[in-house]
Amino acid sequence: MDINIIGVPIYYGADKRGPEYGPEKLREKKVASVLSKYNNKVYDMGDIHVPDVKDYDKFFSHANLKYLDAIMEVNKNLAHTVYSSLMSESFPLVIGGDHSIALGSISGVSRAHKNFAVVWMDAHGDINTQDTSGSGNIHGMPLAKLMNVGHEGLTNVYFQGQKVKPENVFIIGARDLDLGEIALIDKMKLNVYSADEIIEKGINEVMQAVMNKLKVNHVEAIHLSFDLDFIDAEFVPGTGTPVSVGINVDDTKKALKTLAESKLIKSMDFVELNVLLDKNDITADLAIDLLDWTFKHM
Ligand code: ARG
Ligand code: MN
Ligand code: MN
Ligand code: MN
Repeated sequence: MDINIIGVPIYYGADKRGPEYGPEKLREKKVASVLSKYNNKVYDMGDIHVPDVKDYDKFFSHANLKYLDAIMEVNKNLAHTVYSSLMSESFPLVIGGDHSIALGSISGVSRAHKNFAVVWMDAHGDINTQDTSGSGNIHGMPLAKLMNVGHEGLTNVYFQGQKVKPENVFIIGARDLDLGEIALIDKMKLNVYSADEIIEKGINEVMQAVMNKLKVNHVEAIHLSFDLDFIDAEFVPGTGTPVSVGINVDDTKKALKTLAESKLIKSMDFVELNVLLDKNDITADLAIDLLDWTFKHM
């Protein structure tokens, strides 16, 4: 297949420096040649432009949505790039950057597919709004916005309204949910498979449940949004909001393999690699290994 690598060097959603060096780091680790091993043609489309905003201006347009204007602009441009990529029958691989970029990538995907699922592998739900977030960090909010809940600037990125149906949202690996997130998950009846459930039942059983549900819902495509903090904090020093009692690397690979072998993944985000926090490139090397593994099974 044709893969389009789209870099998004942004940290504004995390409000912590480090994720903006993710695309550069993975290029240094030869991500394009790694992915071209499996008969793929890989095109590096470069980076989406991220405007310069000063730290003291981050609350400029909203008291609890840091860097709102810049994040809206970046995601609008990302959405159209992802949409264009899908229209040329290519696979957009969006490399972050923090998780706020899922706003743009999934908005682009939603213009291309009628009935697609979002598989969100993450220690967090990222389903806060400006009213429930304790941090004001937009990387903790994209899923809410994509379901049309929250500030209109963000719910209306690229086009107005809901981008993904709640029944098609699958959150896997959650173990650090805020109270408002739990309430919204209940209200929207999202499919959540917590880290506890994975540890208790085993990853294979949980992934089978996910696959069954995808089938029942007749989804035509999966957008995989992979946050490195899905993995237990012990194995990922280079991520900004690590959470322990998580998923080990073996189980992560099993989950990615099951998803890849379904042949339903048509687009992907790979986010929250914090290059400044990483130790001896452990997390960057793991990132390359996981991407290699995933595309090998597609
Ligand atoms: N729930 C916390 C917040 O809203 C943490 C979010 C972390 N998100 C992430 N994509 N790493 O601030
Ligand atoms: Mn996340
Ligand atoms: Mn996370
Ligand atoms: Mn929290």
